Amino acid sequence: MPTANGFLTKLTQKESFFPLSVGFCPNCFMVQLLETVPPQKMFHDDYQYLSSTSQRMIKHFEGHATEIIERISGKKNPFVVELGCNDGVMLLHLAKRGIAHLGVEPSANVAKLAKAKGVKTKVVFFNAESAREIVREQGQADIICGANVFCHIEDLNSVFEGIRILLKDDGILFMEDPYMLDIINKTSFDQIYDEHVYYFSGLSVSELGKRHGLQLVEMAPQRVHGGSMRYYLKKYLPGNKMAENVVQLLEKEKASSLNTPEGYRFFKHNVDSICSNLKNTLKKFKSQGHRIVGYGATAKSTTLLNYAKIGGDLIEYICDTTPNKVNKFTPGTHIPIKPYDVFAKDSVSYALLLAWNHEDEILQKEEAYRKRGGKFILYFPEVAIE
Ligand code: SAH
Ligand code: TMP
Repeated sequence: MPTANGFLTKLTQKESFFPLSVGFCPNCFMVQLLETVPPQKMFHDDYQYLSSTSQRMIKHFEGHATEIIERISGKKNPFVVELGCNDGVMLLHLAKRGIAHLGVEPSANVAKLAKAKGVKTKVVFFNAESAREIVREQGQADIICGANVFCHIEDLNSVFEGIRILLKDDGILFMEDPYMLDIINKTSFDQIYDEHVYYFSGLSVSELGKRHGLQLVEMAPQRVHGGSMRYYLKKYLPGNKMAENVVQLLEKEKASSLNTPEGYRFFKHNVDSICSNLKNTLKKFKSQGHRIVGYGATAKSTTLLNYAKIGGDLIEYICDTTPNKVNKFTPGTHIPIKPYDVFAKDSVSYALLLAWNHEDEILQKEEAYRKRGGKFILYFPEVAIE
């Protein structure tokens, strides 16, 4: 596989490929990539993903900020640290209220956008060393949070060591990432790509926490990114209680065999079945003379397009609203990426919804396209035409 966000400026550009394979550990229940790409190759001053491109994610993070603000109410001079704050989509709400905060963000280009929103940002990879530095500079944190960032960091042990150092004894860690049980149930295999090193469940997060003196105390399912989970962890203290729903969710995960290799066996079969159905559907439409484009040059789509071998012969172009992606080519499959306006003015019959995690928002936004007969092709949990 090529790197998921390795969009090409020119077709002559050299691409780097790596083996994308996933393993399961029967001792700690972690599902993770077996080979990884060095973080400096993925997170740098030209990082492609911007959290604020989706209205839904903007709303989601406003809600996240509200929850944090409620949890710190009553605390004296609370301090909140967010790992992977990206363009400041969440922390800007704390900055507006004058709450002491820090975004830790190694990708300099997105950190710059956060700073422009008034968000205090430190351009560094979070780990034990940078945690010590933050404590020296600003003291310990009441809340440490991170969404869609823990799953990106190979050296999780250093991150959790850093959390032990940075978190106050009565502090809370919020950790939000795509949820393994949703990935399994929906066969959303395109969540698997180089930047996502880990695919967490309550079982694996609980084990990971234990190894670092942190207890999983709450879990809150989230609808974003096709099904995510917000885990809450605290340092072990006598008064801590595990919420009833954590017990239930862990039982549900065990009932789905997420603690044994059995839980994962059918996954490949389901993946292959979706890929062949999708490819046959695209070929059928194409042979009927229809034009097909892609909607959203997501990182996820790199896995789908490369694994199913869907290229420019089936997909004419992919439209995307991210300025940094337009006029580039998709990694490995070399499909041109066009600005959204091109799609808005076009009269194609079918759009493959590669940004499927934003389905509600996009289907609503594209009412005019659908009214004039344009259709979306969906592929999770099975191929469907909307
Ligand atoms: N939290 C945002 C961004 C997720 S993308 C959201 O949910 O939309 C992941 C972000 O984590 C990127 O901006 C990346 O630069 C950052 N990141 C990667 N490794 C990191 C590390 N070790 N410490 C802090 N942030 C990291
Ligand atoms: P994500 O799936 O990683 O959140 O990335 C979403 C991608 O889809 C991103 O490149 C922006 C693009 N996009 C659009 O082009 N139009 C839209 O309406 C939305 C919500 C996303």
